[in-house]
Order: sequence, then C-alpha cells, then structure tokens
Amino acid sequence: MSTPLKVSRVGVVGCGLMGSGIAQVCAEAGYQVLVREVDEGFLKKGLGNIERFLAKGVEKGKVTPERKAEVLGRLKGTTDLGRMGECDLVVEVVTESLDVKRQVFQALDAACRPETIFASNTSSLSITEMAATTKRPSRFVGLHFFNPVPLMKLVEVVRSPLTDPAVYEEVAAFAASLGKTPVRASDKTGFVVNRLLVPYLLDAIRALEEGAGSIVDIDEGMRLGCGHPMGPLTLLDFVGLDTTYSIANIMFDEFREKRFAPPPLLKRMVQAGLYGRKTGRGFYDYSQEPPRPVAGLV
Ligand code: 3HC
Repeated sequence: MSTPLKVSRVGVVGCGLMGSGIAQVCAEAGYQVLVREVDEGFLKKGLGNIERFLAKGVEKGKVTPERKAEVLGRLKGTTDLGRMGECDLVVEVVTESLDVKRQVFQALDAACRPETIFASNTSSLSITEMAATTKRPSRFVGLHFFNPVPLMKLVEVVRSPLTDPAVYEEVAAFAASLGKTPVRASDKTGFVVNRLLVPYLLDAIRALEEGAGSIVDIDEGMRLGCGHPMGPLTLLDFVGLDTTYSIANIMFDEFREKRFAPPPLLKRMVQAGLYGRKTGRGFYDYSQEPPRPVAGLV
C-alpha cells in the first residue's frame, strides 16, 4: 500500500514552452509551484512567458489584474535542482533525451523524499524505462500535456506496469484539479494522442510530396472539411518539425510500421533548419502576417 500524499507543492523541472505552461496551470489551480531551470537566463525567459500570457489574458478581459498577481505570487524560480526536495510532486519537462532525463531523475531521487511522486511530460519516450532507473518506480507516472498548455484541455496520465494504482489515481485527480480532462493511457509509445496524430501529420506531408494538393489546399481541406482548428501543416509548424521528426523516429523504432516512418520531405526540412514557427519558417514563412506558404519545398 502506498503512502497517501496530498499534493500542495509542485515542482516543474524545465521552463521552456511546455514547462512554463505546466507551471502556469498548476499555479492557476492554487498550487505553490517551484520551477527549475539550468541558469538565470532560461529561468527569466520561462517566467517571462507566463507573465506575458497572463498579461494578454488581462488585455483580453479573461483575467483580472488581481488574479494575475495572485497566480504569479504562487510561482517561484530556482536554478538549484536540490530544492525540488521541497515538493510533493515533481513534473520533469526537460529535453526529449532519455540520457538527459535519466540524469535529472537520478538527481531528483537524491534530493526528494521517498514519497514524492515523479512525473514526466515525455511525448514518446518510455515511462517504464525511466521509472526503472529511479528508486521509486511505483511512484512514477507520465503526465503528457498539450501545446498550448494553458488552453488545451487534455492531459494524458500514463501508467507503467510498475506504477502503484493508488499513485496513479492520485495523479489523475491532480490532473483533473488543474481543470484538465485526464485521459488514462498505458505506456505504449505515443500513448493515445500521438499514436493517432503522428501518422495523420506524416500523411499530410506525404500528400504534399505526392502532389495531392498545395500546402494551403491540404490545410484548408482539413480545417474547413473536418472542423480542425488548424490544418495539419500549420499544426506541424506549431508543434515543431524537429519535435515531430524525433517522435516519429521513436515510434517507428518501436513499432516498425510504415505509418510512423518520417517522410523524406520532413527529414530534409529538419536538415535545412526549417522547424516551423520556432525558426520563423517551416511549411509557412512567419516573417509577415498572415504567414505565407513557402514555395519550392517539393
Ligand atoms: N489568457 C486567457 N485566455 C486566452 C489567452 C490568454 N492569454 N489567449 C487566448 N485565450 C482564450 C481566448 O480568449 C479564447 O477563448 P474563447 O474560446 O472563450 O473565446 C481561446 O483561449 C482561444 O484563443 P484564440 O481565439 O486566441 O485562439 P484560437 O481560437 O485561434 O485557438 C489554439 C488557438 C487553441 C492554439 C487553436 O488553434 C488550437 O486548438 N490549435 C490546435 C492545437 C493543437 O492541436 N495542439 C496539440 C498539439 S500536439 C501536442 O502538443 C503533443 C505533442 O506531444 C506533440
């Protein structure tokens, strides 16, 4: 039987795009949040993103200035991983590398109380493999958030064969307390959403490669024909082509199925540094508003 634990203080390791969103929604839900970044520059940037999102919320009339101050007041930053020992639940949101994540969890194992729960926001790495490298595999889960975290309602809560069912329920309740809908998934690569989403995104690239339609045709087709908020090529630019390429490679490696194989165009675009919005160019050029489809990709 696991030790019951009431989560009140949440640690977030990594304050990039996803980490800052996760820290924000935890603070919005009333948790005390400690965010860790590797240096002051990254920390300032990550916390600045949260401040900007809340300020935009105030501009839009969605957030009151008092609420903004209250949320920011619950967020603290540190560069010291050892301070995660103050937290009841630690969410790891560092780069998608098993080696890097392993090192982080080793340090967390040493810093945190035995009952502290560890969660990884990985989108495609194995929760079981990560859990097995810690001293607390029964208190380890996946918590997969979606981008943009403050606006997307879903969190996948992922169990490994080693996860204690009581810990799993506690984390699912935690996800619900953030105002998100938890979807329960077992540790199959890509979980539920990426297992379905990634082949769809890769197929959109294949459709472009094969001349089925232009960038705009493919996007408008799925946006207007199926009611998706973004067409697949816009979504690829939004998620990042480098990120999608890495996820597809991990999924292909696991399942050896063609539907997960990254198409050559995706590989070439990643080689060219055309990662999407984050580099200013992917399927669209973001140097002007509205973004324009990039010519000559195929
Ligand atoms: N503060 C408070 N509210 C805000 C806000 C802010 N700073 N910014 C926006 N909002 C609110 C808006 O007011 C609006 O609320 P309303 O619906 O009540 O009017 C709502 O949020 C939507 O905002 P916008 O109108 O500005 O934006 P859009 O309607 O254009 O939606 C979007 C933006 C939510 C990003 C939408 O385009 C979308 O859902 N896109 C798809 C995103 C997606 O699929 N993400 C998942 C990617 S896959 C992933 O992450 C997994 C990984 O492993 C790959």
